Amino acid sequence: QKRQYHEKVLDHYSRPRNVGTLDKTDKSVGEGLVGAPACGDVMRLHIKVDPETQVISDVRFKTFGCGSAIASSSYLTELVRGMTLDQAAKVKNTEIAKELCLPPVKLHCSMLAEDAIKSAINNYYKKNPDVKTTSLAGREAKLETAAA
Ligand code: FES
Repeated sequence: QKRQYHEKVLDHYSRPRNVGTLDKTDKSVGEGLVGAPACGDVMRLHIKVDPETQVISDVRFKTFGCGSAIASSSYLTELVRGMTLDQAAKVKNTEIAKELCLPPVKLHCSMLAEDAIKSAINNYYKKNPDVKTTSLAGREAKLETAAA
């Protein structure tokens, strides 16, 4: 029989992981706040980053949105905890959509989660400009190598 939502969505929706907020006045906390233009749903994501290793040590979310958006953010928090910022920046919404078996009309809900982690990472870099310099330099070097 065909259900409207996959059971993985229902699981995350009914028992969302890592709901809440972190202290955003903390320099090691990055905040992502994004909205989906298509439906007006909003997601807030906080990441706490270990300044030594650039590893995401804690992550919390609050999503005012549909079941798929809540499930996407809940799954995202499990996915990125323990990742470095560079690894987390590469998380794609398609990866989330695949895990949760989201149908095409719900793809933008997982996009919200990808946007939220990118936005949180950017915010962290903004609060910690020294990190940004090294990381950006590294990325530019990689691009140059790829172009050469
Ligand atoms: Fe807009 Fe899901 S319907 S985030």
